[in-house]
Amino acid sequence: MSQQLTQIVPLSQPVDIGDEVAAFSSEVEAEIDWHRAKYPLLRSAILPLMFIVQRERGYLDPPGVAYLAKRLKLRITDIWEVATFYSMLHTEPVGKYHIQICKTLSCKIMGEPAITDHICNRLGIKPGETTADGRFTVSLVECLGSCGTAPMFQIGFDYHENLTLARVDQILDSLAA
Ligand code: FES
Repeated sequence: MSQQLTQIVPLSQPVDIGDEVAAFSSEVEAEIDWHRAKYPLLRSAILPLMFIVQRERGYLDPPGVAYLAKRLKLRITDIWEVATFYSMLHTEPVGKYHIQICKTLSCKIMGEPAITDHICNRLGIKPGETTADGRFTVSLVECLGSCGTAPMFQIGFDYHENLTLARVDQILDSLAA
């Protein structure tokens, strides 16, 4: 029994935080300071600051996460916990156009599988992958809160609703131009 206990893998794995901390321009630092000043509790600024770091670096890379931990006076693991919870935050590089297809009940019933197949066939990738030219990433995500206009997907901050295959083609054509 005691031997079994010593072999139990810890719940929390060590995280490689590296030595590098991201640096930003004075304009970006001013924007970050403006958000920090809005919150009496510093950690409450975590989401706005994450979006800024993601915007500047393309995704939440380890130096960006280390920067957030430093500016918010939090542990690295506090940042990763939030970064890995929300589908709009990325811990890996994504394409210029990140197509997040809702796969939850209303969208699934209203045609999400056919739309996902259509997009993936057209782009030559599977969900979770990015095209070789770095333009498109396709992800399947949980409900995006637009169930009444299912099926839908999100690209960047834009919602595209009541999708049909023809409408999907129109959208992809406009992005390919
Ligand atoms: S089920 Fe797709 S937006 Fe809610």
